[in-house]
Amino acid sequence: MEGCTCAGAEVYTNFRAPAPHGVALLFTALAHRRNREVRAQRPIDPMNDPIEKSPDAPWTVLGVESSCDETAAAVVRMTPDGGEVLSDVIATQIAEHAPYGGVVPEIASRAHLRAVVPVIREAVERAGGWSTLNAVAVTAGPGLVGALLVGVQAAKSLAWAKRLPLVGVNHLAGHMLAPFLVREQAIGSRPQFPFVALLASGGHTALYRCDSPTQMRELGATRDDAAGEAFDKVAKLLGLGYPGGPIIDRLAATGDPLAVPFTQPMRGRDNLEFSFSGLKTAVSVHVAKHGIPTAGAGLEDLAASVQKTIVDNLVRKLVAAAVREGVSHAVISGGVAANRGLRAAALDACRARGISLHVPPAKSCTDNAAMIAWAGAVALDAGLRDGPTLNARASWPVTAWALGAQSS
Ligand code: KG4
Ligand code: ZN
Repeated sequence: MEGCTCAGAEVYTNFRAPAPHGVALLFTALAHRRNREVRAQRPIDPMNDPIEKSPDAPWTVLGVESSCDETAAAVVRMTPDGGEVLSDVIATQIAEHAPYGGVVPEIASRAHLRAVVPVIREAVERAGGWSTLNAVAVTAGPGLVGALLVGVQAAKSLAWAKRLPLVGVNHLAGHMLAPFLVREQAIGSRPQFPFVALLASGGHTALYRCDSPTQMRELGATRDDAAGEAFDKVAKLLGLGYPGGPIIDRLAATGDPLAVPFTQPMRGRDNLEFSFSGLKTAVSVHVAKHGIPTAGAGLEDLAASVQKTIVDNLVRKLVAAAVREGVSHAVISGGVAANRGLRAAALDACRARGISLHVPPAKSCTDNAAMIAWAGAVALDAGLRDGPTLNARASWPVTAWALGAQSS
């Protein structure tokens, strides 16, 4: 397996792929072994009768994530200080989607199938083996349903074979609770409830009020494109590659953010909603008029101007949400939270209003399974469990997850 690092996480790009039907073979083999055990110990209902951990053992949870274009597995232990990350493995599909300028769902599903077994195996081995674990958590939505199904089926099979409790995790809740992972380089200490959270990723941009790890309410969301999608679409328009966010972030560092005065999205609207599709149109109009600038001759200025427009909007609404809700803690999470301009601007704006800002390090912001394992541990600790009927959901409001897993 060849590896590299991306945003500080271990990212594997070239797996020795299992046989094409390797996943099915693995699950069949696990099923046979489990059946032998079941025959020896009847009566038993393996999925509905998992072995619960002893009350004094800390939750040590395998998390599996496959909602979009990263196959990820991680093991996280619940400690009084937060989630201790015992392993954190990610197989990225970026190279496979890059030629198309965005995620192609069918390619994503197939890539997840190839990667899911080696990624889980690696994460479990690094954490000390199966005996270290006492539960399995998996992203069950929202996301690409074909992609989600791969992780959900793998997690269900493994939980069943190992007789471990299982819980389906809402991907958005995973992002929002990511600041509770114990990692270096986080901005701010751990947030205190209640807090407002800005979740800005490639698929979602919304503001939430979080009263506890399992009580979350949406305050406002994007009406069209997500912030990450806006970065990606502008980068595609400028022929810069995919994903666009990190590329624009890099270019913007040396550009003049006031060079191109784009109109603020939803200017004059006093609400907590977002809209980014107009910015993409404004950039295409600008490019049609002036041409695509080259590096060193306007490209950095255009990137900085686009980034400033997105960032100013996100920061203004985050502060407005905290003020409206009367809370003094705020969180930024999701892939766009890795943006250096956003981190700096949000820190300044929050400081000026007396709001404590918490931003996880980049490897906790972009999709990862440690955040899923941690959200799973919190849900399991609150008594939530899922069984063999756990299913993937393309859409799943975080409020519905908050107090009842998929049964709500
Ligand atoms: O949370 P994430 O990894 O996956 C989704 O759930 O969507 O977010 C991916 C998004 C992409 O749109 C990517 O361009 C954006 O996050 N992104 C960034 C940066 N790093 C990733 N956007 C702006 N600046 C960055 N440094
Ligand atoms: Zn995400």
